[in-house]
Amino acid sequence: MDRSSLINAPIIGEMEDFKRLFDSSLSSSNLLLQHVIEHIRHKTGKMMRPMLVLLSAKLLGGEVRPATLHAAAALELLHTASLVHDDVVDESTERRGQLSVNAVFNNKVAVLSGDFLLATALLQAAQTRHIDIIDLISVLGRDLADGELLQLSNVQNREFSEEIYFQVIRKKTAMLFAACTKAGALSVDADEEKTELLRLFGEYIGLCFQIKDDIFDYFDSKEIGKPTGNDMLEGKLTLPVLYALNSTHDAEATAIALRVKNGKATPDEISRLVAFTKEKGGIEYAQEVMDAHRQRALSLLDGVPDCEVKRALQAYIDYVVEREK
Ligand code: IPE
Ligand code: IPE
Ligand code: MG
Ligand code: MG
Repeated sequence: MDRSSLINAPIIGEMEDFKRLFDSSLSSSNLLLQHVIEHIRHKTGKMMRPMLVLLSAKLLGGEVRPATLHAAAALELLHTASLVHDDVVDESTERRGQLSVNAVFNNKVAVLSGDFLLATALLQAAQTRHIDIIDLISVLGRDLADGELLQLSNVQNREFSEEIYFQVIRKKTAMLFAACTKAGALSVDADEEKTELLRLFGEYIGLCFQIKDDIFDYFDSKEIGKPTGNDMLEGKLTLPVLYALNSTHDAEATAIALRVKNGKATPDEISRLVAFTKEKGGIEYAQEVMDAHRQRALSLLDGVPDCEVKRALQAYIDYVVEREK
């Protein structure tokens, strides 16, 4: 079986149920909102988060319950809302291989539609009728915003801190993956120990996911469906370049990096900093860090008896680390 069939095999029917629920949650009588929703539905993403919720529930409960599906819908909606808002914040015009909502409509429409998606996410969370899941998703909404704000304020400081980088990606990305595995576990009333194990598994996956996403930004790619080379334009220095800077203390690269943070670097300087990062092994370093997290995630599954769902989760993390989009 290829990797994607391995991941999907245990949840084919359940993903169909999820998609029906996701679609039906997004109805509105407002004509403008209908247009935005139509645009969003036209190109959906990889659905990584709902798949993870369903697989987690299946692993610990043997089945997917209505609460599992509502939690999956809530988390994919929250993710979608954060992307619609993210493209406004990042002034990005492409998402999922099509124009972003802010590009098709405008910033105002994107902010307000993102709010609608966020509120719809909370409504789905409430539909789980599970106070721990509602709690989890509400805290998550705060963490995502907190992570984005931390990232924003980090542009201003003059440090090249890996520690802050990890704080940011833990909040803006890993917490969402951790919430997926935890919500899956809670939805089938798994015990506390197993719930925590799966939560941590999700967190490691999320860290891998964002490091991989950040590596993408150093390369041209048509496949990925969103712009690359954007991070430094936004003043963002991610793991590969942080490593290159901190391991060499190169004066010229440091000067350019500070200009990147100030938003004053020219495209030519950015190209030079990207080339410097690659030359100094920044990409390989980020891959090693990602692989260490992958190993930590996999070892959490050591005690789980071999089964179709366990194999799916192993394939899932391999996909996160090796994916091309
Ligand atoms: C994009 O996530 C946001 C990040 C955490 C980097 P995905 O790459 O999963 O986005 P979609 O849902 O497939 O478009
Ligand atoms: C994506 O962040 C949105 C969140 C994780 C909340 P980025 O800005 O780093 O990712 P892309 O590249 O636009 O998807
Ligand atoms: Mg962003
Ligand atoms: Mg972005």
